[in-house]
Amino acid sequence: MSKKIIIANWKMNPASSQEAMSLFSGISKNVSQIKKTIVVICPPFIYLPSFSKALAGKGKIKKQISLGAQDAFWGDTGAYTGEVSAVMLSDIGVKYVILGHSERRVLGESNENINKKLKSAISANILPILCVGELERDENHEYFNFVKNQLLECLNGIPKNLLYKIIIAYEPVWAISTTQNRRDATPLDSREMAIFIRKIISDKLGVGMKMPRIIYGGSVNNKDAGEFLRYGGIDGLLVGKASLDVKKFTDIIKIAENENN
Ligand code: 13P
Repeated sequence: MSKKIIIANWKMNPASSQEAMSLFSGISKNVSQIKKTIVVICPPFIYLPSFSKALAGKGKIKKQISLGAQDAFWGDTGAYTGEVSAVMLSDIGVKYVILGHSERRVLGESNENINKKLKSAISANILPILCVGELERDENHEYFNFVKNQLLECLNGIPKNLLYKIIIAYEPVWAISTTQNRRDATPLDSREMAIFIRKIISDKLGVGMKMPRIIYGGSVNNKDAGEFLRYGGIDGLLVGKASLDVKKFTDIIKIAENENN
């Protein structure tokens, strides 16, 4: 069984570098005993260089925490005002990048763009966390086709032997903490979609190929993380709001560590 991976998506938080560093150090200190769980922190771009320096200065912590970005543009350099490339992120020690988050898709990010970003991230040696997920669940189960289409368009043309590098995050938009009139998703909802995603990928890959990891995100907290990890058919969690709270987030990491045992 692969190691559980717990990823913090801080989104556009917190407001100051001082608060960001205090959150980061709080989490770092609390995970010094974690051995089997992979922990990734994805802060806003602007905090990445100082976190990277902090990690370089503390040999012990380095093994437990990796850094991720919340987006990365395609290409290496060029006339793309306001963008940051995967190559630039890799240069400062960033190992992961979230791509295709629903909060970016709603601003106009297309599957086609995400596909280009995935290819660039992989060639820059950054592991992409590809977010997919339906806006709503309909009685006719159209949401399966919706997720399938997102997956196939985003993964189009990526060589089979590289697909395992991508972490697929199933995030049903209706369960995300900031969605209006949100509802709780259950570990069963996660399990059902994780099986569906595995089937799509294994049809694409054929037998004998290394599979990507599948994780779940959508209002996960320290109360339900264990259930999702145990029954959700997944290899880890993508945590938003609860990752901004040192205690809640480190509780989630410790729960994952126990599940790894
Ligand atoms: P919440 O955990 O705040 O619902 O956010 C989920 C998410 O969007 C993580 O990427």
